[in-house]
Amino acid sequence: MRLQLQTWAEVERYLETSTTAIMPIGSTEQHGPNGLIGTDAVTSEEIAYKVGELTNTMVAPTISVGMAQHHMAFKGSMTLRPATLISVISDYVDSLAHHGFDHFYFINGHGGNMATIQAAFQEIYTAHILGGAGNNEPSVRCGLRNWWQGQKTGKLLKELYGDKDGRHATASEVAVTQHLFPDNIKDVAMAPPGPITGPWSDGNDYRAKYPDGRIGSHPDLATPEAGKRIFDQAVEEICEDVGKFAES
Ligand code: NI
Repeated sequence: MRLQLQTWAEVERYLETSTTAIMPIGSTEQHGPNGLIGTDAVTSEEIAYKVGELTNTMVAPTISVGMAQHHMAFKGSMTLRPATLISVISDYVDSLAHHGFDHFYFINGHGGNMATIQAAFQEIYTAHILGGAGNNEPSVRCGLRNWWQGQKTGKLLKELYGDKDGRHATASEVAVTQHLFPDNIKDVAMAPPGPITGPWSDGNDYRAKYPDGRIGSHPDLATPEAGKRIFDQAVEEICEDVGKFAES
């Protein structure tokens, strides 16, 4: 159930039975030699659409650009400043809260967003508490779920790729995009990844350490068939989790 494909009257009727919204959030950033720039945005978005369909939950518009300054030495990458992303998340939530939504379940596709999303939740709660009647309960609930974090999903990723999944431009996320967008599979030859040489600071430092954008991953092992299995497993686990969250 996509917000953007409803009429206002349909949203009004929805709110009579549910006040939960699914909030897809991703990133628009380089994903190594064969990964799509929009990997983190389109994976979280498509998983959110499917979860919304199966659980009859409203899915808000995707926040498609995230916090990705460390990828900015690669063409096509985009980033919001952390403060901007906090404002965007807050305004998305507050707009929908204005209409009566009070549970916001973020399905995230980008590890680099997590700290900023959590900071945004604290901003939202603080604003509600300080602006409210002085009680100690925030008037909204926000939840964060990375699409890959479920126990069964994690087990499947291990079984499919083990350590070869790597940490960025992973085989698993590239596989999911290959399942979702088979016309955009890139056939790119690549050598094994270089060593994982530790953390980075800014985009230039990242590129110096990880020249082709990957961190320890073998995305040449991605297949659309594996992507379908990962997608289906993630959707199944997130559907269960959304149900619990909506009742929290
Ligand atoms: Ni990614």
